[in-house]
Amino acid sequence: MCGIVGYIGQQDSKEVLLTGLEKLEYRGYDSAGIALLNQDGVNLFKVKGRIAALKEEVDQDVHATMGIGHTRWATHGEPSVDNAHPHQSTSGRFTLVHNGVIENYQDLKREYLQDVTFKSETDTEVVVQLIEKFYQTNQDTLASFRQTMELLKGSYAIAMIDNEDSDTLYVSKNKSPLLVGLGNDFNVVASDAMATLKVTDQYLEIHDKEIVIVNRESVTIQKLDGTVLERSPYTAQIDASDIEKGTYPHFMLKEIDEQPIVMRKIIKEYQNDNNELKLDENIRTAMKAADRIYIIAAGTSYHAGLVGKEFIEKLAKIPVEVHVASEFSYNMPLLSEKPLFIFISQSGETADSRAVLVSIKEMGHPALTITNVPGSTLSREADYTLHLYAGPEIAVASTKAYTAQIAVLAILAVDTARAKGLELDFDPMQELAIVANAMDVLTAQKEEIEQLATDYLATSRNAFFIGRSADYNVALEGSLKLKEISYIQAEGFAGGELKHGTIALIEKGTPVIALATQENVNYSIRGNVQEVVARGANAMIVSMKGLEQDDDAFVLPKVHELLTPLASVVPLQLLAYYAALHRGCDVDKPRNLAKSVTVE
Ligand code: G6P
Repeated sequence: MCGIVGYIGQQDSKEVLLTGLEKLEYRGYDSAGIALLNQDGVNLFKVKGRIAALKEEVDQDVHATMGIGHTRWATHGEPSVDNAHPHQSTSGRFTLVHNGVIENYQDLKREYLQDVTFKSETDTEVVVQLIEKFYQTNQDTLASFRQTMELLKGSYAIAMIDNEDSDTLYVSKNKSPLLVGLGNDFNVVASDAMATLKVTDQYLEIHDKEIVIVNRESVTIQKLDGTVLERSPYTAQIDASDIEKGTYPHFMLKEIDEQPIVMRKIIKEYQNDNNELKLDENIRTAMKAADRIYIIAAGTSYHAGLVGKEFIEKLAKIPVEVHVASEFSYNMPLLSEKPLFIFISQSGETADSRAVLVSIKEMGHPALTITNVPGSTLSREADYTLHLYAGPEIAVASTKAYTAQIAVLAILAVDTARAKGLELDFDPMQELAIVANAMDVLTAQKEEIEQLATDYLATSRNAFFIGRSADYNVALEGSLKLKEISYIQAEGFAGGELKHGTIALIEKGTPVIALATQENVNYSIRGNVQEVVARGANAMIVSMKGLEQDDDAFVLPKVHELLTPLASVVPLQLLAYYAALHRGCDVDKPRNLAKSVTVE
């Protein structure tokens, strides 16, 4: 969701800005723009649509050693050239990009900017106009920038150019991610290190409500009150090749294929030389101390949480509630006496989850974040972090992060059970190794699954995924994958619940994808399939070796019953992929969606 890149140095900035914006495309956006400052002033280029269109729009003859760029995911005002960033103040002196939502922009407009004519419908334009308004009185850019930041409520990452000063980028953030990258005689600003990894791997964190003055040769971090802060840079732990597609047509397919590698990486990272589980002792203590665990997450991560609940309850015998982050804040359940909160988030930046983290920290409760990005906001602000080791996930539809989350939750549950002295007949590393092998087999069956996508989903407007028990959790994820990228209206249902209403939607040819990997419900889910077939559904069953029947469309290799979601989700991911591909959809960048949702 919205991405920012800035460059100040000796070279032409166009290349760094445009390549950087391309690297941020995965976050989701619907318009884009760049501003380049040179001796002629600010040159502004904006488009509705993709970076490819922006590249065409940019005048290649404009050279500038300083610039800012932005991808916008519309919140206030439709996707359009007028609403695209960068935004300028009325005189054109100040030019700014912003990621986030300024919650009090209407109040600020009313209080300070009654006489200003606005060119866009965005909350962002209020920020740049305010800076100009304050400048008219104090004639000091930094002071005006600071005065404005002090007034903003909400989330923001901001980079600003003053066209009278070709040696400074003004930067600040609150709740939204932003980093400064350090180079030799240049510096960059980016929402995400991936954007600028090509030019530097040295980064400085910016904390909330700090102001950063980025010059060509130096970077100064200040508190809002002007106190200068010292901070050491860190080296970004991302391999530049991890963020390239290589020979794959789409990142999603690459990331589906990477799942067995990720499983093996997790086995390696969470085990010591004596084959014992390797987890932070403090996490162990916090898990043991909890009388109830609250898992908070959104989207696919929420679905991983549902699977994790089963692990923790069955193995570690601690009651677990799983909550959708955006609901929890406004409808908080009665909490237990000693709660532990687990935040599951691929990006570690989801604003809905962060809002919950902020409120439960205020209440004094402990928090553990399970994330793919250890330096992310949710990771920094929680007490403990478990890393997913999945490598960057670029496709908007999450695949390898989901399976990594489930694997880490299984390890956490077993570790807690052992710490509590519970006897277990389940070796997670051995079982995850079997899962990794099963994933190898599954990802090699692409042709078969592509055929199923053609047979069942080629022309359908809707589809149902059904399962019982653990399979129900995966049905939810399978349906989310399909709707996200193919735009087929898909719903996941508990097999037994269909007959209480939803079965009314089944008509001739309606695709129903049923999961049958659980022995205790094998016959009942097959009964549910018969019910929909009797009403004309085009049903396919995905079962597991040992439970299969002759007509099953797809049979998964056998894995431990607790870990079946790790196997059964793979053909559903591929089914969604091929259905989207056949419909000509933009698989990696589906419409309206963002990878990292940094607004509530
Ligand atoms: C967005 C993405 C989803 C993702 C969800 C939660 O909606 O499109 O794919 O599951 O955010 O993201 P997180 O980074 O917190 O796991």
